[in-house]
Amino acid sequence: MDTNTIIKVENLTRKFNGLTAVDGISFEVKKGEIFGFLGPNGAGKTTTINMLCTLLRPTSGTAEVACCDIIKDPNRVRREIGIIFQDPSLDDRLTAEDNLRFHGYLYHMKISDINQRIPEVLNLVELYDRRKDFVKKFSGGMKRRLEIARGLLHHPKLLFLDEPTLGLDPQTRAHIWDYILKMRKETGLSIFMTTHYMQEAEVCDRIAIMDHGHIVDLDSPEGLKKKHGEDTLEKVFLKITGREIRTQAGESSWTQWMRRS
Ligand SMILES: Nc1ncnc2c1ncn2[C@@H]1O[C@H](COP(=O)(O)OP(=O)(O)O)[C@@H](O)[C@H]1O
Ligand SMILES: [Mg+2]
Repeated sequence: MDTNTIIKVENLTRKFNGLTAVDGISFEVKKGEIFGFLGPNGAGKTTTINMLCTLLRPTSGTAEVACCDIIKDPNRVRREIGIIFQDPSLDDRLTAEDNLRFHGYLYHMKISDINQRIPEVLNLVELYDRRKDFVKKFSGGMKRRLEIARGLLHHPKLLFLDEPTLGLDPQTRAHIWDYILKMRKETGLSIFMTTHYMQEAEVCDRIAIMDHGHIVDLDSPEGLKKKHGEDTLEKVFLKITGREIRTQAGESSWTQWMRRS
């Protein structure tokens, strides 16, 4: 694998009984890139992430993540990556700090490293002052921030985020994106994310548009718009698939946030 490549996927396929959820996809992600999968519900985004994170075995095809084969070397893959799942996965009965500590133990981190790292990642997502609070008291946005902190705890080279802002209000979504961009700037880490929000796809360096288990196009947001002669990704999606991607209420404050810088 090219040393500049962090993910290399070849003909990856996953079937569930009669249904082909991911149908022979191939793509590469470069080091330091924010790479996005954009597609409607059921497109196969989570299934792809789960295979790349070694949580689900492909039916056929191969992938290398951080230079490790996902089938032959799943344990090494897991050490190199951080994951923020689509569904909440914190322990509500523990404090913020103890959720992180538990994660550090699972990853066999040294105690000294855990102790040094916890304040760093909590500061990044501005939750240091809440470290002693039980997670059940946290808002949805705070939980997401803590999950991001946890995903970063063991110094991953690559972070997977599956619909990182799903179900959050536009203001909180914008806030979460502030952290993701800050983290990328500070650590140079590579990011693979999925979303069905057009506005989030705009932040990516490159996006793969996914529909019915296929990658129907792949380019930078600007490149896609130029190629299809459209001024928004929304129209690009409609043009390629003949369908509208689901859009959410309250997009205007998000758009304001995106334009402010
Ligand atoms: N464990 C499973 N068993 C059966 N079907 C599944 C399973 N996981 C996902 N699917 C199906 O695979 C398709 C892709 O799902 P998913 O990868 O979750 O899509 P997305 O994340 O893009 O919304 C859907 O039709 C979904 O119902
Ligand atoms: Mg999903």
